[in-house]
Amino acid sequence: MRLLQALSKFAASKSLIRNVRAAFSQTPLTSDTYKVERGNYGEIASEDISIFKDIVGCSHVVTDPSDLEGNNIDWLKTVRGQSKLMVKPKSTKEVSEILKHCNERNLAVCPQGGNTGLVGGSVPVFDEVILSTQRMNKIISIDPISGVLVCQAGCILETANKDLAGHGLIAPLDLGAKGSCHLGGNISTNAGGLRLLRYGSLRGTVLGVEAVLSDGAVLDCLSTLRKDNTGYDLKQLMIGSEGTLGVVTALSILCPQKPASVNVAFLGVESFEKVLKIQQCARKDLGEILSAVEFMDSECMRNVTHHLNMTNPIADCPFYILIETSGSNASHDEEKLGRFLEEVMDAGIADDGTLATDYTKMEAIWGLRERMAEAMLHDGYNFKYDFSLPTDKMYDLVRASREHLKGICKSVVGYGHLGDGNLHLNITCEKYSRDIHSAVEPFVYEWTSRHKGSVSAEHGLGFKKRQYMAYTKSKEEIMMMKKIKQLFDPKGILNPYKMLPDNF
Ligand code: FAD
Ligand code: MLT
Ligand code: ZN
Repeated sequence: MRLLQALSKFAASKSLIRNVRAAFSQTPLTSDTYKVERGNYGEIASEDISIFKDIVGCSHVVTDPSDLEGNNIDWLKTVRGQSKLMVKPKSTKEVSEILKHCNERNLAVCPQGGNTGLVGGSVPVFDEVILSTQRMNKIISIDPISGVLVCQAGCILETANKDLAGHGLIAPLDLGAKGSCHLGGNISTNAGGLRLLRYGSLRGTVLGVEAVLSDGAVLDCLSTLRKDNTGYDLKQLMIGSEGTLGVVTALSILCPQKPASVNVAFLGVESFEKVLKIQQCARKDLGEILSAVEFMDSECMRNVTHHLNMTNPIADCPFYILIETSGSNASHDEEKLGRFLEEVMDAGIADDGTLATDYTKMEAIWGLRERMAEAMLHDGYNFKYDFSLPTDKMYDLVRASREHLKGICKSVVGYGHLGDGNLHLNITCEKYSRDIHSAVEPFVYEWTSRHKGSVSAEHGLGFKKRQYMAYTKSKEEIMMMKKIKQLFDPKGILNPYKMLPDNF
């Protein structure tokens, strides 16, 4: 049995390597696609490699080009960098020594966690040194009384969640990439995800951050206090700064109790107006036990069932809503969600629906929503967006994009975190083309700005969206961000070409 498992693991890793290889050779270099100029940084010399080896040990400095392929290309296979070197430190001290050296030598650095980012922030553009946190995966402490987890930045979200479960706790965030993304990456992108509706943003749940600045100085804001009003809250600058201000090395985060009972309802409705009505009823009727409200349209369902061979558990409908409750009393919660489902169906708001109270059925329903990113990746080149919009306007953008892109694209789909007003508009085509890109952008950004939305609700700006920041932020705000960048990283070595727009 063990041998069989080992063999199938080996086969799976072989096929993963083959897939990365194929994607690598098919994805053009970012610098060619986007016509970027390399900054005036130093080039890695053999003395630098020796110094890095002294700091982290020989086996944790990667220079073999084929071993670097997966770290040079993003999850979406849309951007590809040319780094010749990755360092894998184990401790804050090692990160500090690496950055001190890079700063002295003017070597650009790209911090990388699980490399699941969706905006091209986690991969280099040119030959930046990749600083990977994959070995920084130590849980430092879990306090079951306060619910505070303290850990290194490279802890994988799902692994940390398993440890937390042993103490009756859960992480306050959940996302489809949980099996690979790092908590440090989550903080650096201010990831939202599927539980934000219930547990709030990382800006509230993260209590402390330790980060290494560009010159190697350690900024220790690793508090575990819930309340601290002494001066500026510097950790907030690190949250969502996408590796441009410092390398997050450790964090403390407030974790809720693991709910004793979780139930899911999956409903089908005929219009987006009814989607909104269901959301309103759910907030009113399910109140304190409501933990997620997600939606997807029929084009999404077609893609996820077709590409991933999954099954729609209810009748085909124009829109689907997933409602999750998390509480402490199984029979009470189940009855409440069951009654809600009956009422919205009797009132003719929902056309079909099903209730999941056992783990297997819940997983299958959640899979339809959580694996949407994967399904769209199978559909072709994927233009992916994560707009914040007034909830009642969310779907108008999908309709407007379909009209605008008629005959040009393969699929134009809408799904997302309905309860947070966060739309994921995904547009696919057979392969990348500059003409299609120009038809899609800036159209979608202009539409969003006109309707007072944000061009990024949760994925960040990274490389691909940085030039569009001004659709959401004022000139004064962008100028102030540039001053902060200058203060934290005077030589601009940390994640250059990312997050901040050029022309300001
Ligand atoms: P990476 O991708 O490695 O890096 C992301 C950015 O953070 C880069 O700019 C990188 O330079 C920087 N960075 C990483 N680690 C550090 C560090 N220690 N210090 C400083 N900078 C660092 N995002 C959501 O918000 N909500 C979702 O629901 C969601 N679902 C997803 C589902 C799938 C299937 C996938 C593939 C992605 C999803 N994402 C989602 C996007 C992504 O998973 C998140 O942005 C995640 O937080 C990135 O974590 P990571 O460790 O992979 O970071
Ligand atoms: C999600 O909500 O599924 C993620 O943000 C990924 C995506 O946008 O596809
Ligand atoms: Zn999302």
